[in-house]
Amino acid sequence: MASGGELSTSPVRSIVASRNLENLIVEEVSPPSESRIMDLKKGGSMGAERMRLLRMRLWELRRLGPLKIVAITSSLPKDGKSTIAVNLSTVLSDGKQHRVLLVESDLHCPGVGNILRIPKNPGLAECLEKGVDPFVCIRRIEPLGFYLLQAGMAEGHPTDLIQSDALPDLLSSMAQYFDWVVLDTPPVFPVADTMSLCQASDAVLLVVRSGVTPKDSVNEAIEMIGSNRIAGLILNGAEEINKSYYKYSSYYGTKK
Ligand SMILES: Nc1ncnc2c1ncn2[C@@H]1O[C@H](COP(=O)(O)OP(=O)(O)OP(=O)(O)O)[C@@H](O)[C@H]1O
Ligand SMILES: [Mg+2]
Repeated sequence: MASGGELSTSPVRSIVASRNLENLIVEEVSPPSESRIMDLKKGGSMGAERMRLLRMRLWELRRLGPLKIVAITSSLPKDGKSTIAVNLSTVLSDGKQHRVLLVESDLHCPGVGNILRIPKNPGLAECLEKGVDPFVCIRRIEPLGFYLLQAGMAEGHPTDLIQSDALPDLLSSMAQYFDWVVLDTPPVFPVADTMSLCQASDAVLLVVRSGVTPKDSVNEAIEMIGSNRIAGLILNGAEEINKSYYKYSSYYGTKK
């Protein structure tokens, strides 16, 4: 695990000047099995197959129009947004073939650091509040292969930061350096920030926890975000559907 939550000085200047992703701090992680982070060595698992299908759909959608910044949200807390954001970033990076930046943009309750067991470090909050260069804070996450901008620690109110003009500016500048920018957002209810994050993104993926998220709250979230902004719904934890899909996929020889 890389050390330090401090913004150090001299090596940082060269990172910022070069914009060379190879020079960024590397964070080695080994998420515990209960975290539900895909094991890349188990390539044929149900979850991994589902994530690959989602990746394929996103690449297909990109052919139809500009699509780089993707927000992952859900109507209510604990639907699995952060877990899916980590897995999607991993699969999109495809063993570092593509540069994927995951932005921990839930400043109220950041979840990615907890899932990956990374301590809090300066990140999005410092970039928006103090004008810190994001390249000072971004870390490469190994062995998952994506880059992470953590939430950081806001001194002011998180909602004011997320609703500031600095947010879309920062995201569009990051989109110049990365192939995909994935936003792990707060839930639509009860947090106002999510609307700003959805508006600053090219598309939204709405996570629905199978058998848990009430249908009405899903419909309300779709109405709030606007159905034209939603690229798709992700049904999280649909074990029965996954089981039948798995039988089908193993018949065709994708089971490992
Ligand atoms: N498909 C699943 N089956 C079982 N547990 C799951 C599943 N997906 C996520 N979880 C678990 O549910 C909890 C919440 O997941 P996660 O933190 O990803 O949700 P979240 O929507 O980001 O929450 P928050 O709204 O607090 O940000 C975690 O303990 C996670 O491991
Ligand atoms: Mg979360």
